[in-house]
Amino acid sequence: MTNKIKISPSILSADFSRLGEEVRALCEAGADYIHVDVMDGHFVPNITIGPCVVEKIKKHSTVPLDVHLMISNPDKYAKDFINAGADLLTIHAEANGCHPYVLDEIKSCGIKAGVAISPSTSLEVLNNLIGLGFLDLLLIMTVEPGFASQKFLFDQLGKIRNVKMQAEQLNLPNLLIAVDGGINKDTALECMRAGANLLIAGSYIFKNKNYKENIEFLKSKVTM
Ligand code: DX5
Ligand code: ZN
Repeated sequence: MTNKIKISPSILSADFSRLGEEVRALCEAGADYIHVDVMDGHFVPNITIGPCVVEKIKKHSTVPLDVHLMISNPDKYAKDFINAGADLLTIHAEANGCHPYVLDEIKSCGIKAGVAISPSTSLEVLNNLIGLGFLDLLLIMTVEPGFASQKFLFDQLGKIRNVKMQAEQLNLPNLLIAVDGGINKDTALECMRAGANLLIAGSYIFKNKNYKENIEFLKSKVTM
């Protein structure tokens, strides 16, 4: 059976002094997306990059940029990231500025819109967003957002199963069910079994220079 799982390497674990090179290497290594973790030091206790860096790395990527906004006010900044070249923009359900109109704005710019949920957040906060077929991506965090290299939270697997079940019931075969945090060869398999079709991985892919081997190994682990 063809492997339908996509891999989105998170550049949070890349060498920031050589970001362009790192992005090119990931594309050549078989990345399906490039995952960009944006943190504002307010929504999460860490600060990373802004739209100007996204604009620069866009030129080095041959695959879509999957931008994960861990910021309190996505309503204020979504447009800046879209203009910078995001192809998929994900906002957090817990953010003050998470409103349906932001998702609408993202989609009306012709790019994909996603919502992420943190481990302590119940899927119920999404109300009927999934049912409306409005979301392109639902991102289930399997670590507390903010840092790379944390341990996978196994108790989040039920959420993945639940989203997969809803996607099947509502006949949404194109919904991206993404998992972010603590992905390695073992947890990748668990996520795939639970119904994920997009795995975001940082430290696992950057654990050495063999990005191609690491991406292929992750994919081979989840091939049925
Ligand atoms: C965490 C970020 C993740 C992180 C994943 O807040 O959203 O994308 O970089 O890193 P690993 O794969 O090391 O858990
Ligand atoms: Zn992320």
